[in-house]
Order: sequence, then structure tokens, then C-alpha cells
Amino acid sequence: MMTLASDNVRGQVTVRDLTKTFTINQKALTVLKGFNLDIRPGECLTIVGASGSGKTTLLRVLAGLEAADGGDVQIDGRSITGVGRERAVIFQEPRLLPWLTVLGNVAFGLEVRGEPRKQAEEWARRYISLVGLGDFGDAYPKQLSGGMAQRVGIARALTVQPEILLLDEPLGALDAMTKITMQEELTRIWSEERVTMVVVTHDLEEAVYLGDRVLVLPKERGGAIRFLDIDLPRPRDRSEPRFVKYREDLLREFGLH
Ligand SMILES: Nc1ncnc2c1ncn2[C@@H]1O[C@H](COP(=O)(O)OP(=O)(O)OP(=O)(O)O)[C@@H](O)[C@H]1O
Ligand SMILES: [Mg+2]
Repeated sequence: MMTLASDNVRGQVTVRDLTKTFTINQKALTVLKGFNLDIRPGECLTIVGASGSGKTTLLRVLAGLEAADGGDVQIDGRSITGVGRERAVIFQEPRLLPWLTVLGNVAFGLEVRGEPRKQAEEWARRYISLVGLGDFGDAYPKQLSGGMAQRVGIARALTVQPEILLLDEPLGALDAMTKITMQEELTRIWSEERVTMVVVTHDLEEAVYLGDRVLVLPKERGGAIRFLDIDLPRPRDRSEPRFVKYREDLLREFGLH
């Protein structure tokens, strides 16, 4: 039986002593070492860091798509051993099935889980309107703009009612204006669904706009991770002095200011 998200917000993430090493040309490359992190239920954590600093690796380990070499990831107190229903992942490209309509794509995940089609489509419709595509249920992916396709990806991820949404540069391929709209949409959806969100981004303004907290991965391997608490009410105003200050603080973390 499916129920609407309750008031009881779940989705707490605890990472302890995480280690991940890749081997490239017989040389070991340690991407994460003794990594610790606590994400509060319902929090929006954004992650920034230089290219190659391990953002995607961290997200994939949290998703259970990549096994760690050591340490532990717990969701609501249980150690994860792979992918799980309480987590959904959104990548830069929405990866929609071209032969299915928007409705078909969004309902797909539920149908795979054995929900009867009618029920799955009813549920899918709710999320299609939540992402503002109520009139496009019958459209095919090739008939959508990039921003619309990414909205479908978000609806598809939400339809299975995850506690935790993991997003890897979800707006990275969008033009600047669509990106701003989608940042506003993501904030709205996050607060309506009360889902825990972890967003990897290259865009420092986006990190400040979306995050309760920004995690800054170190430039040098083995360096300390840093957190920046974003103490600003929502909806956020990108031009207000405190917002601008946070953005400058982040730029400084990267030696860019
Ligand atoms: N499957 C893999 N096999 C070997 N090395 C890998 C693999 N995946 C990632 N790496 C290495 O791990 C490091 C971190 O990669 P990752 O993709 O996590 O970086 P990122 O912070 O997401 O970078 P970007 O901002 O460019 O997306 C890189 O040096 C990369 O070469
Ligand atoms: Mg990456």
C-alpha cells in the first residue's frame, strides 16, 4: 500500500570512516579517506569541490552504486549494502526512455516494482503536475526542452517516494535562465516533499541558493572537508548582501577571490 509522505521526516544519513580507492594503471588513487558526514533528515546538503575531488564518487557510494573499501554508510540507522528503495538518484542527463510518454516514463519505476498500471499512472500524474508538466503527460521525450526533460527525471525519481534524493549536477546542462527557474522549482519540491536532498554542483551560487549547508571537498587529497552553514530564509534572494557574502566565502575557499 502506498501512502503519502507522513509528517515523520526520515532520511538521516550517517557516514563513518569511509574510504574509497580506485586503481588507475596499477596505481592506487585514494579519493575518500576517513570521510565522515552526518546529514539531518529533511536537510538539503550541497556539495562543491574541484573537478576530480570525488563529488560523484561520494554520491555514488551514498546511492549504493559504488561499494566503499572501508567504513560505513547508514540510512536511518541501518547500514546500506547496495542500492535501496529509500534512495533515488538524478543525473545530469535525465535518461528517459524515448519510446514511452512522459506519463509512461514517470510511472515506469512503480510498474517495475509491481504496482498495477492504473495505480502507477495515478501516482505519476501527481508528480508530473508537481514539477509543472501537467499538460505534457502524453508528450514523448524528444518533444521536450532540456529543462522539461529534467523535470520529468525529477518526477520519476519522486514517484517512488524516496526519503533521500541524490542529485549529481542535475541542472548542469541547462541554460542560465532555465537553471534559475529549476533551482526555484527544486527548492519548492524539496520543501513540499520534505525529502532529504544531496546536490552535487559546480555552481557556487546554486550551492548557496539550494543548501542548508554546503560541503566543500578539499582541493588536495587528504585535506580537511569544510562546511558552510547557509543561514538565510527561503525563498532566497540572490542579490541580498548576505547571499553575496556566502558566495564570496565559497569563492575564497577555492582561492578565486
Ligand atoms: N570508475 C573509476 N575508475 C577509476 N577511477 C575513477 C573512477 N571513478 C572516478 N575515478 C577517479 O576518482 C577521482 C574522483 O572522480 P569523481 O568523478 O568523483 O570526481 P568529481 O568531483 O565528480 O569531478 P567532476 O567535477 O569533474 O565531475 C578522479 O580522479 C577519477 O579519475
Ligand atoms: Mg562528477
